[in-house]
Formats: sequence, C-alpha cells, structure tokens
Amino acid sequence: MAKFDFGGVMEEVITSEEFSLQEARDILQDETVAVLGYGVQGPGQALNMRDNGIRVIVGQREGGASWDRAVADGFVPGETLFSLEEAAKRGTVIQNLLSDAGQVATWPTLKELLDDGKMLYFSHGFSIVYKDQTGIIPPSNVDVVLVAPKGSGRTVRTNFLDGSGINSSFAIFQDYTGNAREKTIALGIAIGSGYLFPTTFQNEVYSDLTGERGVLMGCLAGVMEAQYNLLRKHGHTPSEAFNETVEELTQSLIRLVAENGMDWMFSNCSTTAQRGALDWAPKFRDAVVPVFDDLYEKVISGSETKRVLEANSATDYREKLQKELDVIKNSEMWKTGTTVRSLRPENRS
Ligand SMILES: NC(=O)c1ccc[n+]([C@@H]2O[C@H](COP(=O)([O-])OP(=O)(O)OC[C@H]3O[C@@H](n4cnc5c(N)ncnc54)[C@H](OP(=O)(O)O)[C@@H]3O)[C@@H](O)[C@H]2O)c1
Repeated sequence: MAKFDFGGVMEEVITSEEFSLQEARDILQDETVAVLGYGVQGPGQALNMRDNGIRVIVGQREGGASWDRAVADGFVPGETLFSLEEAAKRGTVIQNLLSDAGQVATWPTLKELLDDGKMLYFSHGFSIVYKDQTGIIPPSNVDVVLVAPKGSGRTVRTNFLDGSGINSSFAIFQDYTGNAREKTIALGIAIGSGYLFPTTFQNEVYSDLTGERGVLMGCLAGVMEAQYNLLRKHGHTPSEAFNETVEELTQSLIRLVAENGMDWMFSNCSTTAQRGALDWAPKFRDAVVPVFDDLYEKVISGSETKRVLEANSATDYREKLQKELDVIKNSEMWKTGTTVRSLRPENRS
C-alpha cells in the first residue's frame, strides 16, 4: 500500500497500478464469485468482473425485472444464472448485493449455505454492524469482508466502460482463511475500483448513511428546493429559479469543482459572486451543523437503520415509494427541470 498526503494526513491507498488486474486474476483464478442480487450494484460489479476475466455467476430470484435484465446481460439460466440458493451453493465468494432489507429476509437460508472457508462479501457495513436489528451474524469459519464502491452501481459500470473507475473502501471483519485481505483487494480491483482505501465495517456504514442523507442527496435536495421556493415566492419565473438553482450547478459549476476544487471555483467566478459566496458559505455551514449532529446521532443509535428496515420490508413499499416520487416529479420545480433538460441543445434535435 502506498501512502498519500490527504490534506496533511497520510493515508494508505491501493491503486489499480500498484495491484494489477493480472494479480487480481491470479488470486481469484480458483474462485467462483456468486453475485447475489441483480439490482443496482449487482449488475455493475458482476459485469465488470466478468469482463475482467473472473468466473462470475449470478443468483437472483426468478420472475421479476432483475432476472430478465441478468438474462439480457448474457447470464444464462442454469449455467451462469441461478436461484439465490443455488448460486450461494456454487459460489466460493458470496457477494451479497441484495437490498439491505433483502439481506435480512434471506439470511436464514443463506447462512446454511456458507461452507467452511467461503468468503461472504458485502458492499455495505449495514447488515453486520446493525446485527441486533438484522440478525446477520456469520459463522466463525468463513471470511467476512466488504468492498464498498463510493458511487452508484450504474457508475461502477459506466466508469469502467469509459476506462476510468470508482473509488471503493474495503474492510475485513473476519479473516478465517488468512487470505481474506489479498482476496478482498483482488475483488476490489476486479470490480473496477480506481483506488481502494481501508476502513472498518462501522466507519463505512456510519459515513455512508450520513453522506447519502446529507450532502450527496438529502441535504442537496432540501437546499435546492429551499432556494427554488424562495425565488418563486419573490416572483421569479420557474425557468429563472430552476436555472439559478439546479441547471447552473449541474451543467457548469459542479463539474468545475470536480475538476479543480472549491478554491479554484471561487477564484474563477466573477468578483461579485466570489465575495458573496465566500461571505455566505460559513453562514450556511453553521446553519446546518445542528441538523448534521442530529443525523449522525440517529445513524449511530440505529434509529436510521431501524426506519429503513421497517419501511423497506413492507409489502407495499414500492407502491408507497412511487407515490412519494410522483409528488416530486409532478412538482412545479421538477416539471420545470424536465422542460429545462429538454431545451438543452443536445436534447432539442
Ligand atoms: N445502490 C448503489 O449504488 C449502492 C452503492 C454502494 C453500496 N450499495 C450496497 O450494495 C448492496 C446492494 O444494493 P442495491 O442498491 O444494488 O440493491 P437493490 O438495487 O435494492 O437490490 C435489490 C436486489 O435485491 C433483491 N431482493 C430484495 N429483496 C429480496 C428478498 N426479500 N428476497 C430475494 N431477493 C430480494 C432484488 O430482487 P428483485 O429485483 O426480484 O426484487 C434485487 O436483486 C446494499 O448493501 C447497498 O447498501 C449500493
């Protein structure tokens, strides 16, 4: 592992140059990786590994869109596509990429299929860390590891196809065979990680639950809506409010921040924008501190995961979710977004 300077803190990471794909292939040559679940992460990780020359089979319950998608992606029923149980029996590495609620529901069956020396792999610390809620306590004679891509499963695939990668964290919870670490890193490289950084199951799940509820989605959606509503309240048109809130962010500024960082962004905007943004940033930061404190506390206390498990395992979850999403989709703000997107030059033809 090479050490890099992250803002003055030295941290170890493993890059795909340092740990080559060939090394990963050699380590995994005798393994059959069973990817359980063909939802969002399943396809990304399974297809990348298959393209990278790893022996991959998929386990997926039959009769739904996910099964059909696996077939469309070239997994052959009875050869490389099986029921969850059959794939878990055949695999030596069991990648549990079911939804977190699905992992709880299927655990009683899966735990019986974890033969001595197999590897149980997750992409989230959820099931293991919140074991009091999930009941997921692996037997002591298997390796238990995690590789968590820091992005959507869709980007795991599209970045791979673009020739880039997505950064992933990795952690070892239980090293029964003594080879868990090198196999985990090999799997991380095989799924197409740009670089891998070490974590623990606990830190992975605490940071992940905070991030998605916070800046990555929850907070972002909330502050965008607040600004849009403010502008509308003061008589600005939907088009103007949306352009000043979302379109300029996604089409211009955030890309520049991704490329160059925030100080560069501040120094490459108008001096008017610069002075105002620098003055207001600390006010927004301080205003959300209590909300973030509340969020982190609810993450570590387990009340966030309790809510997730209760909501996601309800039989009418998908219908209720659709209603919730339809409210957003049909709001003035996001209907405006549809029109604004359709007016982008590349979408007008
Ligand atoms: N989404 C992401 O981009 C992302 C990013 C990083 C880490 N992760 C982690 O990766 C793991 C997989 O997440 P995901 O978002 O890919 O999950 P997802 O899309 O919600 O996956 C759903 C999969 O689980 C199956 N499933 C759900 N409930 C089931 C049940 N009771 N019995 C059998 N199968 C069931 C679904 O089958 P059907 O289609 O038949 O319902 C589908 O194959 C999670 O631990 C998640 O936290 C996800």
